[in-house]
Amino acid sequence: MTKYIVQGGKPLFGEVEISGAKNAAVAIIPAALLVDGICRIENIPQISDVTLCLKILEDLGAGIRCINRHTVELDCSRIRTTRTNYEMSRKIRASYYLIGSLLGRFGEAEVAMPGGCNFGGVRPIDQHVKGFAALGAKVSVEGGFIHASAGEQGLRGANIYLDVVSVGATMNIMMAAVMAKGVTVIENAAKEPHIVDLANFLNSMGANIRGAGTDTIKIDGVDRLRGGSYAIIPDQIEAGTYMAAVAATGGQVLVKNIIPKHMDCITAKLLEMGVEVEENGDTLLVRRNGRLQKTNIKTLPYPGFPTDMQPQITTVLSLAEGTSLVTEGVWGSRYRYVDELKRMGANIQVDDKTAVVEGVDHLTGAPIQAYDLRAGAALVIAALAAHGQSEITQVQYIERGYEDIIEKLRALGADIRAVEESEAAEAANVG
Ligand code: EPU
Repeated sequence: MTKYIVQGGKPLFGEVEISGAKNAAVAIIPAALLVDGICRIENIPQISDVTLCLKILEDLGAGIRCINRHTVELDCSRIRTTRTNYEMSRKIRASYYLIGSLLGRFGEAEVAMPGGCNFGGVRPIDQHVKGFAALGAKVSVEGGFIHASAGEQGLRGANIYLDVVSVGATMNIMMAAVMAKGVTVIENAAKEPHIVDLANFLNSMGANIRGAGTDTIKIDGVDRLRGGSYAIIPDQIEAGTYMAAVAATGGQVLVKNIIPKHMDCITAKLLEMGVEVEENGDTLLVRRNGRLQKTNIKTLPYPGFPTDMQPQITTVLSLAEGTSLVTEGVWGSRYRYVDELKRMGANIQVDDKTAVVEGVDHLTGAPIQAYDLRAGAALVIAALAAHGQSEITQVQYIERGYEDIIEKLRALGADIRAVEESEAAEAANVG
C-alpha cells in the first residue's frame, strides 16, 4: 500500500496543466461500445478508474491500441460477450455506463452492480432503470448482475422525465437511446460539462443528439455509429482542486488547459473568499496573499457549485476568518472526511447535510486517512497547508481520479512524496 508524506506550510508557485476530465472519460470509453468502427480518443487522463474501464472493454473483446499516454484507439467491431467481468466492473461506479452502451448496441447487457466511492450513503440507480424500461427494456438483478434486455422488439424512443437530476442516468439513457427506433426526450436532464462532452462524442460518431447542456435532451435514433476521432474536455474538478490548494496554502499558480466557463461556479466562491482569480484564454491565474474570508456554499447540479468540490472547499474554509456554512445539496451525506480534518485542528460541526465551519488560524499535520476520491484530495490540501508533517493513507482513492498528483504538486514546490508502506508497518497499524 502507498501512503503520502506531506511537509506542510509551503505556498504553491508555478504552473499546472490540467488533464482530461475523469467523469467524461469514464462515460466516453464505455460509449465507444456503441461504435462499429475505430474511435480514437484523445486527452484521456492516466488514472486508475480509466485503466479499469479500458480493461473491462478489452475483456469484452474490444481492440485497444495505446497511441501515446493520453490517446487510445478503440475497436469495438468484434465484441464477443455482453456480460462484463464481475470483479472488475463491481469496482467502479462508472461501470453502470456499460448497461446503456451494451443495451444500446446489442440489445443485451449483464453488468455487475456498480461499486465506486462510498460517501457513507446510498447511491441508487433507479432513474437509469426507469429510463431503460421506458425505452422498452426489461431490467432485473440476479446473482449480483444487472440484466437488461431489449427483447425482439428492440429499443424504442420514449419521453423520460427524471425525478432527480442525475448525471449518470442522463448519460446512460443517452447511450441506450442513440440507436433506438424513433425520438427519445429526456426531461429534467443533468447539464454538467461531461454531459455535453458525451453528446459531442456520440454526435461526432454519427448520433443525432440535441439540447445537451440544457434540461431537455432530444435523441433521434440512428442506424449505426461509425468511427472517428474525439478529444475529451479538461477536468473541471481537477482544476478546482488545484485552485483550492493555492487558496489554502497561499502563493500564485497558473492553472492551464481549462475551459473558464466550466470554472465559473468555483471561481465565484473563491473570489468571495478573497482569492484573486484572473482569466486569460484557457488559463486561470490564482493568487492568495491575505487571510481567507468566510462564505456560505450549497452544492447543486451544474451550473451550481459542484458536490465533487465540497470536501476541498470545506477544507479551505476551515482556514478562513469567521464561520461558514456548507450545505450538501446533491448527496445525502458526504462529510466522512471531517473527522480527519478535526485531527488536524479544524473546527467543523456537521448536522445532517450542513457543515458549520469555524475558521481556525492554522491546521497541524497528523496521520489521516482518505475515505473516497474527493475526500482524499481535501486531505492533501489540508496537509499542504498544515504546519508540520502529515501521513495520508488509503491514497488509492486519490489515484482513481488525479493524474500525476504527486508530480504536479512537487512541480509547484510542495513537499509531498509517495512511499510504500511496508507490510510490517501495516501490521503494526492494524494491531
Ligand atoms: N440519484 C437517484 N437515483 C438515480 C441516480 C441518482 O436518486 O438513479 C440521486 C443520487 O442519490 C444523488 C443525485 O441523484 O443524490 C445525483 O446523483 P448522480 O446520478 O448525478 O450521480 P452519479 O452519476 O452517480 C456522478 C459522478 C460523481 C458526482 C455526481 C454528481 C461519475 C462516475 N460520478 O455520479 O462523481 O458526484 O455525478 O455530480 O461520473 C467523483 O468524481 O468524485 C464523483 C463521486
